[in-house]
Amino acid sequence: DADLSGANTLALPARAERLARPDSGEALAGLLAGRRGDEPLYVLGQGSNLVLDGDLPGLTVIPALDRIDYRVEGDQARVTAGAGVVWDRLVADTVARGWRGLENLSLIPGTAGAAPFQNIGAYGVELADVLDSVEAVAVADGRPVRFLAAECEFDYRDSLFKSRRRGEFIITAITLRLHRHGPCRVDYGGLAARFGDADPATLEPAAVRAAVIELRQNKLPDPAVLPNAGSFFKNPVVSVAHYQRLKENEPELVAFPHRDGHKLAAGWLIERAGWKGRRLGPVGMHRDQALVLVNHGGARAADVRALAGAVRADVRERFDVDLEQEPIPLP
Ligand code: EPU
Repeated sequence: DADLSGANTLALPARAERLARPDSGEALAGLLAGRRGDEPLYVLGQGSNLVLDGDLPGLTVIPALDRIDYRVEGDQARVTAGAGVVWDRLVADTVARGWRGLENLSLIPGTAGAAPFQNIGAYGVELADVLDSVEAVAVADGRPVRFLAAECEFDYRDSLFKSRRRGEFIITAITLRLHRHGPCRVDYGGLAARFGDADPATLEPAAVRAAVIELRQNKLPDPAVLPNAGSFFKNPVVSVAHYQRLKENEPELVAFPHRDGHKLAAGWLIERAGWKGRRLGPVGMHRDQALVLVNHGGARAADVRALAGAVRADVRERFDVDLEQEPIPLP
């Protein structure tokens, strides 16, 4: 079935002209070989970071490679997961073995193959911290390619796959390097509050995973219940001068030093601009986390665009800050 309304977590209506779910490298190579050179190509995981604005022409591929391989090497564990593996299954499996590295990334919707694309991150950890390498095939000729983590041009919610070489590769597998012993990272906001007094070296990843799940469930709507695509905007980075100007007028401004400037909490800006829990037509900004745009039912891409535009305009007017949309618009 080429209906994509169940294949994107914002539940926007759309169809794919041609939809395939290859479950092996050979099946994927066959698809690429049979594709007209000028035929549009889209790759989806669980569709948890997309805004579908109408039907997708050409070929849409949802990789279904779902093998997981585990290798223990001394104090480390290497895990290779096919692109179609559900991300949180990987987190749950590795945490259950007592391995450290993925616990902070618990409950992030999506697949292993999509994780490098926007360098998923949460609670002070991002994929780049635990990734060893990415296997992919080149769209142009089906040739297998391998990228070491250092070659992926990772940045905050960004990578080579999302930016500079967008559309050139289909990720088939990722390899992670985890630790069998050692400390967990609990220095970020809600985790620090919870584990502040504990010695990070004595923490079990299962305890951190449980805390992350609780924090997320308290704030972030389950897309199966209330369709959404996670944070709808990136947290914007402003200059020190801009930050100081804002802070003078808004002493409660939430911000963190970041490179040469300050990273602002977009959720805070949106809440202050009056949008937390507010609706515009069938969409709204979530009542518990103003950074998450939710579909209350029956929304179309135009509704999403209208709300995103209104929120962005109000934040710009009030704080002179431009919010950048995080989920990818398609087609
Ligand atoms: N805040 C508000 N009002 C709100 C929402 C947030 O004042 O409505 C304030 C909070 O009080 C907090 C600060 O903003 O002090 C940060 O909020 P939170 O910890 O919820 O995280 P975030 O910066 O809004 C980012 C990621 C999330 C990730 C969390 C936890 C981005 C765009 N988002 O959100 O990732 O789960 O940190 O690490 O970086 C996603 O990318 O889809 C996503 C959910």
